[in-house]
Amino acid sequence: MEVIICKTTEEACQLTAKIIADLVKAKPNAVLGLATGRTMERVYACLAQRAKEKGISFKGCSSFNLDEYWGLPGTDVNSYRYYMNYHLFDHIDIDKANTHVPCGTAKCPVEECANYEKAMKEAGGVDLQLLGIGVDGHIGFNEPLSPLSSRTRKVVLSAETLEQNCEMFGGDPKNVPTHALTMGVGTVLDAKACLLLATGSSKAEILAKAVEGPVTSMISSSALQFHQHATIIADEAAAAKLQRQAHYRWVMENDPDMKAILEEK
Ligand code: GLP
Repeated sequence: MEVIICKTTEEACQLTAKIIADLVKAKPNAVLGLATGRTMERVYACLAQRAKEKGISFKGCSSFNLDEYWGLPGTDVNSYRYYMNYHLFDHIDIDKANTHVPCGTAKCPVEECANYEKAMKEAGGVDLQLLGIGVDGHIGFNEPLSPLSSRTRKVVLSAETLEQNCEMFGGDPKNVPTHALTMGVGTVLDAKACLLLATGSSKAEILAKAVEGPVTSMISSSALQFHQHATIIADEAAAAKLQRQAHYRWVMENDPDMKAILEEK
């Protein structure tokens, strides 16, 4: 696992966008695994801007989002389909037919999830999975005790998640859907590379547990420790509780592979 600490939130978001853009430049038919949440809003704005400035085309790309609230149609402003169109897809030249978000109103969730897994496989697997982190340590909506081998499925959201996400639902956790469809931890780990972005002091404690603590299904993000190509990007506030900050900074400054990631081409 690599840890990149950025001075500011803006730098962390710009770097995340740059890594995605660099992949699309190198592999125009890349399969992107995408995430939602407030953290990603700025990332997508930076990505759309970068694509415009550098003439990067997403025409050959396809995408798979991590999750969707159960019960919300894609037309609902709080659905993740709506979020993705609004924050990213409407601003780049990706063919929306090739963008996938689990359907929150599918007749049969089991079938929807199985089809989602199948579509990912048929697309050749996810090249880069972008991830945020929940205050309970979740990736996607893999709440505490999600099996580390779990696949795309319908889940119950935790009280912490309802609280964390209620701002978008009028501030009352009771308004947040109680269930969601989410890629599983095992599904996420199948991606060729994973990139987790954490910003702000509210993520500091859980990020330290996920990165430096033991791997546990209580904190699904800790499963990234199993991944061969997992990168964590954190701003200084989110990195504040990491024990080995000095080492991560040393690697950033001295490792040629890391320099290549950070370098502006
Ligand atoms: C939701 C998503 C997660 C995301 C999390 C972070 O719960 N299901 O995939 O990581 O939000 O949210 P935020 O970026 O708003 O802190």
